[in-house]
Amino acid sequence: MLYKNFNKIHKTKIIIALDYSSKKKALILIKNLNPKFCRLKIGKEMFFLFGINFLKKIINLGFKIFLDLKLNDIPNTVFKAIRSFSNLSLWMISIHASGGKDMMKAAKLAIKFFKKPPLLVSITVLSSFSIKNLHEIGIFSSINQQILLLSQLSKDIGLDGVVCPGSAVKDVKKILGKNFKIITPGIRMSDSTLYDQKNVITPEQAIKLKIDYIVLGRIITFSKNPINDLKKIFLLIQKKKYC
Ligand code: C5P
Repeated sequence: MLYKNFNKIHKTKIIIALDYSSKKKALILIKNLNPKFCRLKIGKEMFFLFGINFLKKIINLGFKIFLDLKLNDIPNTVFKAIRSFSNLSLWMISIHASGGKDMMKAAKLAIKFFKKPPLLVSITVLSSFSIKNLHEIGIFSSINQQILLLSQLSKDIGLDGVVCPGSAVKDVKKILGKNFKIITPGIRMSDSTLYDQKNVITPEQAIKLKIDYIVLGRIITFSKNPINDLKKIFLLIQKKKYC
């Protein structure tokens, strides 16, 4: 098992995005992970394929789970969707900030039905968005302005944090304060393939920015040696005392 040598890391910063179409593949990776040192993110792919039972299985293995369904619907539907998970022990849930104030308020209300309420965070601008993509949907602010606007709205409603691409982390932290959590996906090594991501940063940059949680997706799940690559990132975290 990985992490034998990482006893000093007391507060994990790593969330692994379990974006697999095979339970078997996901479980092979999970077997090598220690819930003390990383959290798991279940997104639409695994949730739609394997549902609540798979989710329960991973929760029962002791992992803190970020259920990243990025909900965006009318307030009543989002309220009921979140309430339907209230018998599960989830660590974090995501909704889209672009769903608006009323939808976010409804989501916040639904969180109260949990025995131990999960953190509620919002998606601001997806890290796969370029400025051109933003203009195509009729938003003419810069990416960072739009992220700041949606982050402020999310904080005003009482959400716990935002999913925010690397480019805006500094500004969001400065304006919204350090208690407002920042989760950053789109993490790439300087020589990694970007795939569909456009707004990316390296693990080193993430460490410098003191991001609360970084989401590692394909740099781990597509790797020929995921455990080795994860180990390198943990060593970097330990070296830079980012824990
Ligand atoms: O493989 P990659 O590192 O690009 O994975 C990023 C993960 O983070 C995916 O699961 C994706 O759904 C998620 N995500 C994102 N951008 C956001 C929010 C979540 O890429 N704004």
